[in-house]
Amino acid sequence: MIVTKVTKVSGRVRSIQPSATLAISAEAKRLARAGKPVINMGVGEPDFNTPEHIVRAAEKALREGKTFYTPAKGIPELIDAIVEVYREKNYDISQENVIVTPGAKYAIFEAMLSTIDEGDEVILLDPSWVSYEPCVAVSGGKVVWVPHSEGFEDAPVEEYVTDRCRMIVINSPSNPLGVVYPKSFLKKIRDLAVDMDLIVMSDEIYDKIVFDEEFHSIAEFDDMLERTILINGFSKTYAMTGWRLGYAIAPEEIIKYMLRLQSHSVSHPTSFVQYAGVEALKGDQSCVGEMVKEFRARRDIMIEYLKEMGLEFAPPKGAFYMFVNVEKDSVEFCEKFLKEKYVAATPGKAFGKSFATWIRLSYATSRDNIVEAMERLSEFLQS
Ligand SMILES: Cc1ncc(COP(=O)(O)O)c(C=O)c1O
Repeated sequence: MIVTKVTKVSGRVRSIQPSATLAISAEAKRLARAGKPVINMGVGEPDFNTPEHIVRAAEKALREGKTFYTPAKGIPELIDAIVEVYREKNYDISQENVIVTPGAKYAIFEAMLSTIDEGDEVILLDPSWVSYEPCVAVSGGKVVWVPHSEGFEDAPVEEYVTDRCRMIVINSPSNPLGVVYPKSFLKKIRDLAVDMDLIVMSDEIYDKIVFDEEFHSIAEFDDMLERTILINGFSKTYAMTGWRLGYAIAPEEIIKYMLRLQSHSVSHPTSFVQYAGVEALKGDQSCVGEMVKEFRARRDIMIEYLKEMGLEFAPPKGAFYMFVNVEKDSVEFCEKFLKEKYVAATPGKAFGKSFATWIRLSYATSRDNIVEAMERLSEFLQS
């Protein structure tokens, strides 16, 4: 028997909608199980195995009995490694500015719960990654969607900031756009944040996956370390999605409250996974370059096909997504594309308010799969 009768769920969880991508991915799995040649371009994770030296570090930690509770904010070795990485980039931070979390996603949750009060406004650029909106909702905040300007590398955020605004969320390189925001845009956000005394959450989980230009963080600008919550993690850079390891860098006062939440909820990220994190940051980095090179080659293949098909897409300069305008209702399009051509894609509706005719295609899949999927897309558009 399944018990379905619930006497009460909170208003906060009631406000969260189920992921718009779930139906598509469940159907993709069902079709694959039925033996259909499914190509999954809906996924948001690298298709590479975690590099061997990182796996070995976790194994070693396990064998050495690193299986007990760790400090709630993470093992000192990992916190030191993170501080070292950012000090090398000239960030004047110390151990007190860092917390290690079970995935970047949990760092985002903790950060929003620690800084957003009931009714506070949080600016999200439209489109944005699917989980920011539920994080804001659970924190009691209100999302203010800001459309991008043409070309997706700027947005008129200044027109949407009110006295109730508390935070602006920037995600560069962006999921789902693949855009890497230029310095001019970041500088504008910096000036706004300083003038209006706002926090900027800078989600930099794709910072190493950039193709054409240098990545810049808003935290690099004057007076920004004191108002930035920088989010990063291991999932994308080191192909470690299932390990659940991320971190936040923020002013000490914010970290203090994130730590309270963490110590009373998940306690800390898994002990031996944190040792793997130390190896990821301090060990050989050539694995990252190899993955980025492969992502770039895949991106280039897709660009050629999409251009040939005459489709509009956002400038794909980082991460591993192409955001494409198919000029049809994207939910219907994705359902039909999967049903008829066995290619899974994510409808733009999942990412914001204004992209009902756009789809996100992830190129975290092999070149052969990409070529085949593009051929099928071309046939599908002509049918
Ligand atoms: C923009 C963005 N931020 C955060 C995350 C969460 O990453 P993690 O696996 O570290 O929780 C993702 C994962 O898809 C993402 O795309």
